[in-house]
Amino acid sequence: MRKKIVAGNWKMNTTVSEGVALAKAVAERAAGLGEGVSLIVAPPFTHLVSVAEVLKGTKIGLSAQNCADHTKGAYTGEVAVDMLKDAGCGWTILGHSERRQYYGETDEKLVEKVKLALEAGLGVILCVGENLDEREAGRHFDVVKAQTEAVLYNFSAEDMKKIVIAYEPVWAIGTGKTATAAQAEEIHACIRKVLAAKFGEELAEETTILYGGSCKPSNAKELFAEKDIDGGLIGGASLKADDFVAIAEAF
Ligand code: 13P
Repeated sequence: MRKKIVAGNWKMNTTVSEGVALAKAVAERAAGLGEGVSLIVAPPFTHLVSVAEVLKGTKIGLSAQNCADHTKGAYTGEVAVDMLKDAGCGWTILGHSERRQYYGETDEKLVEKVKLALEAGLGVILCVGENLDEREAGRHFDVVKAQTEAVLYNFSAEDMKKIVIAYEPVWAIGTGKTATAAQAEEIHACIRKVLAAKFGEELAEETTILYGGSCKPSNAKELFAEKDIDGGLIGGASLKADDFVAIAEAF
């Protein structure tokens, strides 16, 4: 059985004290959550050490939102994988569309980042997804396939066990416009085929694939009912503990 995960990407939101309060609220609210689904939160870098402290003794995972493509040295403004690990992270998100779009994140850089993250013992949540023009041109399957292959085909089946994929259609992020369950499902099934072609059916079946893009308590149940959707990567709704945990309760 593949793992079900609901991860909260806080993006560039909250002060440290607000983040600590949010993490505490999530931990309290999640105490009654069943074993079937795992929660992960991804606060900004500055919050990681404090949030790690709050999450100690809980089952909630801690993730960064990005990592450097080098291990150490003269890379002003960057944060290395060993630093993330040392700060208490078990995960990092990589390849979010906002990083691809605004910060020049390329597939080549992502290969390097995934490699370093895995070597440091971090799990990776790799984001893929088409933009509106690509969807309207009917190129969504090709775009997602190309993004998935360009990064993940550089890794082994063993590496893949530490990698989760998040399908986030760019047109659905922060827009209130969710992909329908059917639209998300057909892309998730396509990603699983792309994985099967390289790593075999069994690995493809075991890989967790999350949906992200205006996912909220009111639509999570319908999305998570699809057979290839194993949870969500949540932006806006992860900033409210009640909504975030309610999404996980949709399972
Ligand atoms: P929203 O849930 O705010 O649409 O953001 C999704 C996202 O980008 C998560 O990484």
